[in-house]
Amino acid sequence: MSDQEFVLSTQEWYYPSDEIVNQSHVSDYEAVYTEAAADPQAFWAKRAETLEWYQRWEKVLDESGAPFYKWFVGGKTNIALNALDRHIKTWRKNKLALIWEGEPGDKQTYSYWRLWQEVNKFGNVLRSMGVKKGDRVTIYMGRIPELIIAMLACAKIGAVHSVIYGGFSEHALADRIEDAQSRVLVTCDGAWLRGSIVELKKIADQAVHRSPIVEHVIVVKRTGQDVPMQAGRDFWYHDLMSLPIASPNCETEVMDAEDPLFILYTSGTTGKPKGILHTHGGYQVYTSTTLQYAFDIRDEDRWWCAADPGWITGHSYIVYAPLILGATSFVYEGAPNFPYPNRWWKMIENYGISILYTAPTAIRGLMRFGDAWPKRHNLSSLRLLGSVGEPINPEAWRWYHSIIGGGRCPVIDTWWQTETGGFMITPLPSVGLKPGSATRPFPGVIADVVDDDGNTCAPGVEGKLVIKNPWPGMLRTIYGDPDRMVRQYFSTYARQGWYLAGDSARKDEDGYFWIIGRIDDVIKVSGYRLGTAEVESGLVSHAAVAESAVIGVPDEVRGNVIYAYCLLRAGFQGSDALVDELKDHIRKEVGPIAVPTKIEFVSALPKTRSGKIMRRVLKARAMGLPEGDTSTLEE
Ligand code: WTA
Repeated sequence: MSDQEFVLSTQEWYYPSDEIVNQSHVSDYEAVYTEAAADPQAFWAKRAETLEWYQRWEKVLDESGAPFYKWFVGGKTNIALNALDRHIKTWRKNKLALIWEGEPGDKQTYSYWRLWQEVNKFGNVLRSMGVKKGDRVTIYMGRIPELIIAMLACAKIGAVHSVIYGGFSEHALADRIEDAQSRVLVTCDGAWLRGSIVELKKIADQAVHRSPIVEHVIVVKRTGQDVPMQAGRDFWYHDLMSLPIASPNCETEVMDAEDPLFILYTSGTTGKPKGILHTHGGYQVYTSTTLQYAFDIRDEDRWWCAADPGWITGHSYIVYAPLILGATSFVYEGAPNFPYPNRWWKMIENYGISILYTAPTAIRGLMRFGDAWPKRHNLSSLRLLGSVGEPINPEAWRWYHSIIGGGRCPVIDTWWQTETGGFMITPLPSVGLKPGSATRPFPGVIADVVDDDGNTCAPGVEGKLVIKNPWPGMLRTIYGDPDRMVRQYFSTYARQGWYLAGDSARKDEDGYFWIIGRIDDVIKVSGYRLGTAEVESGLVSHAAVAESAVIGVPDEVRGNVIYAYCLLRAGFQGSDALVDELKDHIRKEVGPIAVPTKIEFVSALPKTRSGKIMRRVLKARAMGLPEGDTSTLEE
């Protein structure tokens, strides 16, 4: 956004109706924010009291090991106790927890009772395979109910799940299995995407071949094509679930509040993905509070978070928070424009969805097909809309607000990260909105935009986004690499003890936050987070490539696309055929989401005299912009 656009958009206000304000959980943001800021621990303790604990905590926050904070110290709980067990003791046992539609049009519904039973059964299956408290289980599946069941079953028996997004390749999967040292892998034969099958079992087989630590592979039958099953190692999910060991009663493991719940790998500045670790106690309090306040979840709602459960948005806001709140969630398996661009709008009408939460890239993609598609459908059930994953451009915001939301649904633009566990900067429904701004911090969160010395930037001035106090949903560590957690997030402002988010941002005169984008080597492609180093190491693992540099270039629909520059080894010639080969190679090494839009062969890469690639220069060249200060550029 140019300076002029920024000034203009900071003046554009949208206010919620009285009805929305009066009904929402927090009708006075200022009051709740001020109260929480005065005593965050008291605020979070009050929220924790709305949940069940086997044993109450002794201390809300232990800061002695900062930045390795501990929340609800001494508390005993299990997120499954709150997401499932407590509901089946109430009328909610009859309520729908999950409504699911497959891409081919098949449907499934799960009441809380049914979901609880399925989770219990699968928990027993995992236990029978020797999975114990603290063991890691890797899950690599499409967007089907069994993925959610598998995650919850792990939580219930105290195992740590590591979900790998189905768009990752065998190589990426193998690396993550190795890092987590998982002995059990849960997958499916395939996943439906735009009418064809993504062969997940085949990819899983190749990954297991690379990481022989896996002893058992459990396979859900989804797409039904023939897949090879290795005797003694591979088992069909439905076979296991019909054995007597799969009893529908399964004792919930009593967990310490700080016991690990899951590892979720995300991209950082180096090629090695970071296993972000979250725990049972703080995460359940944080995700459920943020969802309840920001989306005002009520019993009559039908909530649709259109993310993939394989990313943090799905973990927090498809699986855990909605279930803790006893909500009804809708989950859809496939592509938004399959078979036609009205698929989403049709499902909103069919199921009476009241809240839709998705990413700007999906909004822009659907906007491209024109207004006629959504206008064919009755979308009056919608009450609130949400956005996540990257900055939403004001144009897409206005379209979403007026065409999808009929001008009456506030757009809740939530800024957060895998590391934060839940929303950090977000409007609540009662707050005045400005298109393109995530508005203000969630109660209990102290966020700021600062310069390199830690001084608060003046309104309109770009700086680094930091969080100045701990919150219950924050990452606890990077799995197996605690030093990296300190280096990455807490070393830039070590003296102040602030968390560095890795984004640049501005605040306006009203204290509203405007996120600009990543300041590190992370690229957001269609809302998915990728590291330049992951793609670069994928490229140089091809025999023809000596060196490569990858940048993100703005794209109207996908937010960013990847451009790659490759220096070839002696004896190799650049050609269209080699471009195709390299794209295929990346698809296999990293995954389809990482495939560069453009690959260019170069005879040199711009580097500093100390040998660091200057991606900034490449980006300026690609976008036809001035190259800026190149004084450190090597001759
Ligand atoms: C970006 C996704 C602007 C940001 C939940 C952040 C956003 C990164 C927004 C984290 C938003 C997320 N406005 N930018 N509303 N939400 N981002 O870990 O750059 O996949 O640092 O978590 O996404 O990506 P991650």
